[in-house]
Parts: sequence; structure tokens; C-alpha cells
Amino acid sequence: MQQPIILRTDAELNMGVSVMTELTAMARIVTAEDDRPETIVRCAPEADIIFTCYAPITAEVINAALKLRGIVKYGVGVDSIDLKAASARGIPVVHCPDYGTGTVADQAFALLMALARKITQIDRGMRKGGWLWPEPKFLGTELGNKIMGIVGLGRIGSAMAQRALGFGMKVLVHDPYVENETLVFATLDELVERADFLSLHCVLTPETRGMITAERLRRMKHTAIIVNVSRGALIDQDALVEALKNGEIAGAGLDVFVEEPLSVDHPLYSFDNVVCSPHFAFYTREAFERLERQCCDKIRALLEGKMPPDLKNREILPDDDSHLRTEGDINLSEHRQQWQENHLDVATHELLDRDARVFIHQSLSTPCLNTITGCEGIYLIDSQGRRLMDFHGNSVHQVGFGHPRVIEAVKNQLDELSFCPRRYTNRPAVDLAEKLAALAPGALNKVLLTPSGTGAIGIAMKIARYITGRHKTVSMTDSFHGASLDAISIGGEALVRDGLGPLLPGCFHVPWPKTEKDADAIEKILIEQKDIGAVIAEPMRCTTVERPHDAYWQRVRKLCDEHGALLVFDEIPLALGRTGKMFCCEHFGVTPDILVIGKGLGGAIMPLAAVIVREDFDILQDRALGHYTHEKSPVASAAALATIAVIEEEGLLEHTRTLGAEALEIMAAVKSRHSVVADIRGLGLALAMEIGDDSADSILYHCLSNGLSFKVSAGNVLTLTPPLVITSEQLTEAFQIVESALS
Ligand SMILES: Cc1ncc(COP(=O)(O)O)c(C=O)c1O
Repeated sequence: MQQPIILRTDAELNMGVSVMTELTAMARIVTAEDDRPETIVRCAPEADIIFTCYAPITAEVINAALKLRGIVKYGVGVDSIDLKAASARGIPVVHCPDYGTGTVADQAFALLMALARKITQIDRGMRKGGWLWPEPKFLGTELGNKIMGIVGLGRIGSAMAQRALGFGMKVLVHDPYVENETLVFATLDELVERADFLSLHCVLTPETRGMITAERLRRMKHTAIIVNVSRGALIDQDALVEALKNGEIAGAGLDVFVEEPLSVDHPLYSFDNVVCSPHFAFYTREAFERLERQCCDKIRALLEGKMPPDLKNREILPDDDSHLRTEGDINLSEHRQQWQENHLDVATHELLDRDARVFIHQSLSTPCLNTITGCEGIYLIDSQGRRLMDFHGNSVHQVGFGHPRVIEAVKNQLDELSFCPRRYTNRPAVDLAEKLAALAPGALNKVLLTPSGTGAIGIAMKIARYITGRHKTVSMTDSFHGASLDAISIGGEALVRDGLGPLLPGCFHVPWPKTEKDADAIEKILIEQKDIGAVIAEPMRCTTVERPHDAYWQRVRKLCDEHGALLVFDEIPLALGRTGKMFCCEHFGVTPDILVIGKGLGGAIMPLAAVIVREDFDILQDRALGHYTHEKSPVASAAALATIAVIEEEGLLEHTRTLGAEALEIMAAVKSRHSVVADIRGLGLALAMEIGDDSADSILYHCLSNGLSFKVSAGNVLTLTPPLVITSEQLTEAFQIVESALS
């Protein structure tokens, strides 16, 4: 295969120098000898990737680059690239918005401190006049308790706020586009008047150009210092010179200017209380290395046909990403990117970047949203200390996170017996199987444990084949039963099935049912095929909280019996109290032949699932059903026993029914106030709010900003599955957050 070519512009910058070995291993590097458009156009036709900084990547360049797979910007601003032309050809333009966040904030702070303590004046004075202490004109200002006014709370503004708080300053923010519970916001005029230090961190737009006017400079405290590391034109520079001349403010720290480079005879240089740097706030070793690494990773992804993070022209993505949305909210969305830019600090971005470098990317997972450092009760705690009520929890947290009884049981079990190899058994595993057999309805009393729900589904499918001698199945379109090839064969989601080639034969799908009449679709297949081995379904769809009419399952049960098919219920996310009963199928009095449970069985600590079947199916002594390495895990079993004990002894089933009813009332009231809420549904604490337009994703990110996490299913359903240990007050608070997002 021909080696791909990376066309590198801006020769003098030596871009990629620190990652050159990696780059040359993936492609041949061609460096344009200069940045004139005609030179780049000449080099363009052979380029697979254009790797550029300031050089003009015009429409002509883009259209000449017939093999082009992507443009990687060495830095943040993409004004030198014709985005429209790139989008017209579907070529991704990616940049590196976060490589220099901390570094730029450091520079802003350095300018601020230099002015507060008159460092440059003192240094210059000493060089000229020697030891100049005591000298009243060098009296400094301390930072503690002073007001740091921040204009623009993006990544750098947030990093600045963090630094200011670390110095014991009070932070006041102006940003009409951002919400943040922990910081105090103000209008620009109020900010200008109250700030002791005013630092600008916003982009230059027609709205922000010249926002620091002569009038606003006059309104500043005469002891105040202004710092600008964003764009020179945010400040009326002539007015700034006047304000400094008239002593209206105490100083200015500037990395950026209206015209760059700043002419050597510019009046700004005449002030002792002005500290300048030549637009290089981004210039540290660490930021440089990050930038090089990020560019290298983005180039690699593009060459491998993947979409790297930080795509600038998102319009090239297909409009219809609905196939990605059936199971959960997607990890490519623009809202997610914006949310990350506004809420995550440098350390978090760094860990996310490391995660994205080392883990295999896939929808719904890597690249990830955020990093967490703790989980307790109903809360997740992120790396920046924010507490989020977790109404998603991957459906494992019936008893909440880190329940003390489950933790204690796990710890004790670790001391006693930590693993049990095949051929051996142990007391907790036997106790658990007995407990599950006793709890499960009807004659379901033989158990097999596995470490994952997917594995348990696979076992259920094998048992159905052995017992009936038939391999065919009927399941529901758009259902999810796990991610392995057998589970996706019965699962109906395009996202998990597409592009994987032939799946298991004989897997029939019917639309998700509502009424009893919808059982006709299953009856038709049972009659036509004559040899269906199993009907496999969630008794209620957990993601969208859609519950067929009770009579539907009663009829399907009868149909299965009449046609010799087994009924398999996948209650992996629903069992153990989620719906207010130990098992969801108890709500409509239908007992399946095989019941599969998982998720919360391990108490939100251990991975564990179980298949529970009729005793008369236990005839497969000489067959292999699936004996997983961690089949009879004593530690997972101890966690499960403690979890079930908590559910029973803390009365969580009744609590769930009570709070579920409360939640439905609250949701009904919310619906009556917000026409965008198209429907509300709930059974126990499996709750759903269907949104009538396309705002579900933005509602999610608004809620995340305000302390509530949940999943969006099917593109427009807020799936709300709180831990069952939630209190009534917490539930009310969560719905207040949802309602504020709807507003
Ligand atoms: C209904 C259903 N079945 C099966 C599974 C697979 O379980 P696991 O991820 O533990 O393999 C899931 C997981 O989300 C599920 O929701």
C-alpha cells in the first residue's frame, strides 16, 4: 500500500518535531518550503493530511488536495483555514482547544502578580540603582480577599478562577453563556466596578470587540489592575493608554494587542505599571509537548479513518445519528463538547486524553465525558469535587454506591475466601443460589451465576436450544440484551449490530408491543416457523420505560406454551426492586421459563449476573452451558447476599413504590407546566420523561452542570433510574434540576 503523506506547513515552527518518530512511522512528511498559497496549492495534491498552524489553507488548497482525509491545526484558532471549503468536501478540520489552558492561565496570573508586587519595576530599579529598599513607591498589593473579576468562563477563565480561589481571592464572573452553581456571576458593568483584578478570557466577536471601553475603564477602581491574554481588541487600547495616563487604573498586564507585533514606540511601553509579553501566553514546555502529542494522535486517528476529538466543522457529521442513540446518549455530540469546554479543568482534560489514547474508542464509552474520584449513596463525585446525583448508574445501584453493608460483606469475604476455582464451591455462592431460588417466582429454582449479564443471556439461549432442540428465537426490535455476538443477534439495536456481518440465524424480531393485540406478531411467527425455541424480551423496556399491557404477556405466555417455545425474561436492569417488586414480572403475574438478572445483583461493587430456570430444565449434566472463570465468586456472592439483605431489611421495595408514586405526581406537574414534555412514565423508580422536540441532549448537559446525571435513550427520552435509597427530598431536588433545564 502507498505510504500516506502528511503535508506540513509553517516550516519555521518545526511542528511535530518531538513526535517525529511516530509521525514518520505512519506517513511520509512533506514540508512546504514556504507558506505562500501557490506553494501550498502545489504540494496539496499528494497530501492525505494537512498539518498546519498559521499558513493559509484556502479553498484552492483544499480543492487541490484530492486525497485529503483531514486538516490538523497546530493550536486553537482555525481562522487561517477555509472551513466552508473543507466542509463542502466533507473533510474534517480538527484543532487542539485545550492544550494550553493551564499555561495561558499561568501567564495571566504571572502578569497579575508581577503588577501586584511591582516585580518588573523593582527589578529594573535594582539593576539601575542597586539596593533600593525602603522605597514607598514599591509598596505592593496582596491578593488574599481581593476580588478577581473574570470575563469569560471558558476553559482558561475557569483555570484562572481556580488559581484565584487558591490564592484566597473572591471570584466574580461575567459570562452570559455559562452557568455554574459554585461561582458568583455579575453583569459586565458590575464586574468592572467591583474587581480589584480584571482578567479577560473571552473570544473576539463583534459583541466583545472593544467591550472594555473608556467609560468602563473610568468605572474601574483606581487601584485595579487589568490583565488581557485573550485578544487585544477586547480593550479600546487608546482608551487604556488614556486611563493609565490619568491614573484611572493601577496597571495593565498585556500579552495581546490590537496590532501585533506592537510597534517599539508604542505609548504602552512608556508606563512603568504596564507589563507586556509578545502573545506567547501559551509558551511552556508542557503545553508544547501536549500540543505535539495531541496533533500526533489526531493525525493517527484520521489516517486510521477514525474521527478524532475536537472536530471544528461538525456539520460534516451525518445528520442522522439516531442509530447511535437507541441505547444511550452519544459521546460525539456537540453539547458534550461544549459542556466539557465549560466545566472541566486541565487535570481532567489530561486524564481524559490519556484515557482516549489508551482505550479502544467506541460509541457510548471512550472518549469519555468526565473523570470521577468517588461514588457514595446516590452521588458520583467528579475529579473537581462536584457531586452529581446519579440517576443512571448503569442500573447497578439499587442500594446506592458503596453501601456500608455491602462494603463490609465484601471486605469480610476478601479476608475469608477471595476466589473459588472451578470444581469447588463455597458457602456464599450456595447461600446466594438458595436465596435467589427462594425469591424467584413459580418453579424457577435452579441457578447459574456469571460475571456479566451478556454471559447470562448467552447461557439462557443455550439452555433454550438444549431444552427445545430448536435454535430460533423471537425478540424485540431495538432491544438490548448484551454486546456479544449471540446477544446482539437477538438484540435489535442498529448501533450494536451494524457492520458485524452474519449474526446467528433464525433470530426474528417484532416491534415493541403496547396492547394485547400486538401479540399477534409473535403468534404469526410461531405458527409460520413452527420451530421457535424461545421468545426473549425485557418484560418492560428499561431504557424508555415502556410497559406492554399486562394482558400482552399473559397471552404471550399462553402462546409459548401452545407452540413449545420457552419464555425468557431479561430482567438484568429491572430485577431486585427497580420497579417496586423484587422482579418486574411479578407485576403482571407471568412466570417465565428462564429469568435472567444481573447489574445491581453485585451491589454496585462486583460484576455478577444469574440465570434462574425451572427445576425440570436441570437435565444437561453432560453439556457445557458456560462455566465462566468467576462463576462461583465468593466475593461477588457475598456482595449479592448483602445487597438482597439491604433491599429486604431496609424496606426498599415499599420505599420504591412510595417514591415512584411521588415521582409520577411531580412529573405530571412538570409536564403540565412544560409543553415540551410529551409523556411521562414510571413503574417504581424506573422513570422516563419523553421530550417532544430535539432538546433532550441539551437538557442532559444542563442537568449535568447542576448536579444531576441520567441517560438519554432513543434520542428523546430522559431515563431516570435513581438509586432506590434516594430520599423524597433528594427526588424533589432532582426534578427541580430537570425543571430548570426545561425552562
Ligand atoms: C436489558 C439488558 N440486558 C443485558 C444487558 C447486558 O448486561 P452486561 O452489560 O452486564 O453484560 C444489559 C446491559 O445494559 C441490559 O440493559
